[in-house]
Amino acid sequence: MDNRAIGIFDSGLGGLTAAAALRELMPMENIIYFADSARVPYGAKSRDELLIMARQDLELLASFQVKFIIAACGTVSSNAAHIIESFPVPSLGVLKPGIQAMSRIPGDAPLGIIATAASIKAGAFRRELERLCPGRRIVDLPCPDFVPLIESGHTGADDPELREAVEHSLAPAKEAGVSALLLGCTHYGIIAPAIRDFLGDGVELVSASKSAAQAACERIARLGLTGGEGGETLYYTSGDAGEFSAAASGLLGLEVRARHLPAMEINGRYGDSF
Ligand code: DGL
Repeated sequence: MDNRAIGIFDSGLGGLTAAAALRELMPMENIIYFADSARVPYGAKSRDELLIMARQDLELLASFQVKFIIAACGTVSSNAAHIIESFPVPSLGVLKPGIQAMSRIPGDAPLGIIATAASIKAGAFRRELERLCPGRRIVDLPCPDFVPLIESGHTGADDPELREAVEHSLAPAKEAGVSALLLGCTHYGIIAPAIRDFLGDGVELVSASKSAAQAACERIARLGLTGGEGGETLYYTSGDAGEFSAAASGLLGLEVRARHLPAMEINGRYGDSF
């Protein structure tokens, strides 16, 4: 029995989709969630910045003595896989589990991937899916409008601004006739109803967050790290704790009381601000 917490991080609210999925699979585990809300959106950052931020986020969670870390951020997972995979605390990102789930979609219709601009630019989602599904047509689309909308509360399927952004961003996937769409940014699960409304029930939505939670659960068991006491989640944000708590409570349907941690300087050494 290892009752140390599992760490989960994202740029903001998106990783809550992974935290919720993990909580369902592992009800007795303790979780520490970190939202780097002061620096959202990660999808607009450069690769160099993302490499630094990935390490800072991992080190922050490691400072809480977590036993395992989920980088619940497609942008970090696709730009900094080597940092996640070589980190001293066992860690995984959302890219590989999400792509593995996509590779099991039967048939030969095109497969869609949506993710942040920085993720699509990195090309790792496409490359990994091409490797597992050679010859299959892949449509990968950046959706830079989604995260700012979600973080500012535009999440309802009937929200006019969100509907417009979904139509505009996903039209090429609809035209291509994709049979499945990977939600390669963890924020996108929050707006799955709006995406489903636009694409219709015939398109399977594959959640990178849920796939990552499943993969984490299996790996934690394999490593002998399963815990059996607690079931508590602590939330931290580098942004405004009240705002994050209100948004997270609404999304999760439970009371979240986040604590504030000072934002990290991109040029500062890790630890300067803590
Ligand atoms: N939720 C993150 C992702 O999965 C980051 C989105 C952002 O901050 O741009 O990519």
